[in-house]
Amino acid sequence: MSLKRRKFISLGSFSFINFINSGSIKSGSIKFGPAYLASSITTFNRPIFASELQSQISSKDRSNKNDLLLRFISVADTGTGGDGQYSVAQSMINYRRQNPYNLVILAGDNIYTNGEIEKINSVFERPYASLLKQGIKFYSVLGNHDIRTANGEPQVKYFGFNMQGRYYTFYHGSVQFFALDTNHNADWQNQLIWLEKELSNSKAIWKIVFGHHQIYSSGVYGVNKPFIDVLTPLFQKYGVQLYINGHEHNYERTRPINGTTYMVCGGGANTRPVGRSEWTEYSASKLSFAAYNVYADRIEISGIGTDNEVFDRGVIPLNSGHLQVNSRLI
Ligand SMILES: [Fe+2]
Repeated sequence: MSLKRRKFISLGSFSFINFINSGSIKSGSIKFGPAYLASSITTFNRPIFASELQSQISSKDRSNKNDLLLRFISVADTGTGGDGQYSVAQSMINYRRQNPYNLVILAGDNIYTNGEIEKINSVFERPYASLLKQGIKFYSVLGNHDIRTANGEPQVKYFGFNMQGRYYTFYHGSVQFFALDTNHNADWQNQLIWLEKELSNSKAIWKIVFGHHQIYSSGVYGVNKPFIDVLTPLFQKYGVQLYINGHEHNYERTRPINGTTYMVCGGGANTRPVGRSEWTEYSASKLSFAAYNVYADRIEISGIGTDNEVFDRGVIPLNSGHLQVNSRLI
């Protein structure tokens, strides 16, 4: 093993373990927005690349800007099999009746407490049976609880999680998703090389990264400095507009930070307290999931509770992830 690699692993492991064990809670006020239900929109599902987008945006005919390219939802920290998970699952099912989606980002801690794959029926297949029967695809990553059994390998192989490895990427229409293993024992060196290669080769207009652990957060674990140091420069350099995570059992949406919006959606089965930070757009300690309507020029985000109400709405403009790149180029 090279000195460089040993040094990376040593520093990385120390930092990540410190982060995982940290437990400061920030206090703050929480505001609730007006109830809102998104309207049903036509679907449009094929790749759109940057050059094509430019012609769309520069065109005087902007009617296609309101064509929905993709709708998906995200939820995390789900795997209890308890009442909280079933309540959120029911709101996901209810939401889909008026807002069809076929893709769910499942951001880790899929099986509590120790990633026991034999519990898969009670913590995944039964709670989401109605969605699975309709062919909705869940794309998962490994949380800290998931790696406690055989380092999460049974979940990587489980067909219902659609994982192509511990980290992987996939396209869905005009969006490219990048799934990360954010655990302390991940193969960070190779994963970061892979991530940079995939991001630099990506022709998708929307780049969305997801992993279990938080980066910017006002929850129990708080801001994750090692991840800010390691991951966010790549997000900034390659124009990642959105990072989605769990681990924190709450909902939090940030404003774009150096071009990236950070979404915590860990209220999939339980809740913990959350405060707010200067970059927080909205935070709430609520059982909830998040829904995303992707258009050519924006992503509209909704936070949805178990009362089926949309308690938060936000918009990510397309250029949010490219501002820093462009300004550097200029
Ligand atoms: Fe976790």
